[in-house]
Amino acid sequence: MSSSQGHRFDIMALVFCLLALAKPVNVIKLSPFLPHSPSLSPSGFPILVEQDSQDTSLQFDFYRESCPHAESIVRSAMARILNHNNNATAQLLRLQFHDCFIQGCDASVLLDEGNGNNNQSTEKDAIPNSTLKGFDFIDAIKEELEASCSGIVSCSDTLVLATRDAIVLAGGPFYPLLTGRRDSNRSYFAVAMAEIPPPDANISETIRLFSLRGFSARETVSLFGGHNIGKIGCEFIRPRLHNFHGTGRPDPTIPADFLDEMSFICSNNGSTSPNRAPSPVRSRSLVESAVGSSSVSSGSVFGKYYYDSVLRGRGLLFADQQLMAHDETADLVRAYASDDGTTFRIDFARAMVKMSNLGVLTGSQGQIRINCSRLVSSN
Ligand SMILES: *[C@@H]1O[C@H](CO)[C@@H](O)[C@H](O)[C@H]1NC(C)=O
Ligand SMILES: *[C@@H]1O[C@H](CO)[C@@H](O)[C@H](O)[C@H]1NC(C)=O
Ligand SMILES: *[C@@H]1O[C@H](CO)[C@@H](O)[C@H](O)[C@H]1NC(C)=O
Ligand SMILES: *[C@@H]1O[C@H](CO)[C@@H](O)[C@H](O)[C@H]1NC(C)=O
Ligand SMILES: *[C@@H]1O[C@H](CO)[C@@H](O)[C@H](O)[C@H]1NC(C)=O
Ligand SMILES: *[C@@H]1O[C@H](CO)[C@@H](O)[C@H](O)[C@H]1NC(C)=O
Ligand SMILES: *[C@@H]1O[C@H](CO)[C@@H](O)[C@H](O)[C@H]1NC(C)=O
Repeated sequence: MSSSQGHRFDIMALVFCLLALAKPVNVIKLSPFLPHSPSLSPSGFPILVEQDSQDTSLQFDFYRESCPHAESIVRSAMARILNHNNNATAQLLRLQFHDCFIQGCDASVLLDEGNGNNNQSTEKDAIPNSTLKGFDFIDAIKEELEASCSGIVSCSDTLVLATRDAIVLAGGPFYPLLTGRRDSNRSYFAVAMAEIPPPDANISETIRLFSLRGFSARETVSLFGGHNIGKIGCEFIRPRLHNFHGTGRPDPTIPADFLDEMSFICSNNGSTSPNRAPSPVRSRSLVESAVGSSSVSSGSVFGKYYYDSVLRGRGLLFADQQLMAHDETADLVRAYASDDGTTFRIDFARAMVKMSNLGVLTGSQGQIRINCSRLVSSN
């Protein structure tokens, strides 16, 4: 793995240099889709990534003078973490999503209660019952960054960089990231409760909540492809299996064989041990081996499998299957399922860039946390 990954990252470094030379522009051209396996088309795909004009104070390689190794520290730490934690990519993707959706990518999701957080409940508490994971990965990476350059690299940059690198290492598309985000000085419990798209949202609600953050239907459908990795807790699936919307029956859109399959996997109701963690369902069986294997990923983890499944009525969450309940999103699902995954990967990369730039704090706003779970006290 290391040599092929290393090669890939070398090329990325080159892309970064070219991008830095090309400044100032707010439309950049790059070829992030380096082949992950011989079976994928090796053609570099030009892609336009539009950077929001509001984010002009983010820069490419913001830490080039203050902490020149910051990005490579994150990258190698992430490679080490993934060797031991197959699930890290999915966990970080979810963590970033929850951070960026609530008042922007400002690491507010990482804050613990107390520690000067103004006596408020935190996003961590609000988000569907503390099912978020991956905080320890960010802490470990931040500790390494602190050892190299104390108080320089923000937790919010650490999170988006770590997530991007985890996606690439899992066979997903590379996307360039601007840096220079700063960390919030508070967490936003109430917003988190109201504006995180829930797993049982219908399609109108999903589209509405994503559009509140500026995402088009197309971007929304591409981001849902992130559900292709990782596992989904049965507590999010059971409501579809037994008493769907109070009907006393399963969700009628679930095909019978798939209903049997999910019911079997989620049949432990946990009555004997209420504190036990929910049993996970694999969103696809190949994910583990693809992510966990130390050879170059097949790339299929970030391929079209998710859209094929949804097309066949086998979306795990209600919100997944709802993509077929609306003409525009259903057309997009069909489009993503219709090629080798290339269209999805391009759109997903673009949408991740956009997500990573949501509502960032820059310049003298916010702070640089040392320990990502606690505020730096103001005095
Ligand atoms: C990742 O998933 C595997 C397989 O389900 C599980 O055994 C392991 O505990 C998970 N690791 C973490 C860190 O959650
Ligand atoms: C802190 O939280 C407690 C419990 O919610 C509340 O009673 C108290 O008024 C809060 N204090 C401040 C300063 O907000
Ligand atoms: C989540 O936590 C809230 C408050 O503690 C509780 O009322 C609710 O039942 C929990 N939901 C699930 C799915 O565990
Ligand atoms: C937190 O940040 C906001 C906006 O960036 C600022 O107005 C406020 O004074 C800050 N509060 C503290 C305690 O630093
Ligand atoms: C979708 O969900 C929203 C929010 O829960 C609800 O207000 C709306 O009526 C639902 N729409 C349909 C078509 O079910
Ligand atoms: C799980 O709970 C559901 C509804 O509460 C019930 O219908 C079902 O029989 C239970 N399954 C098992 C295996 O206990
Ligand atoms: C960071 O702060 C939390 C408390 O908010 C503490 O539990 C943790 O040990 C701290 N981490 C480090 C590395 O000091």
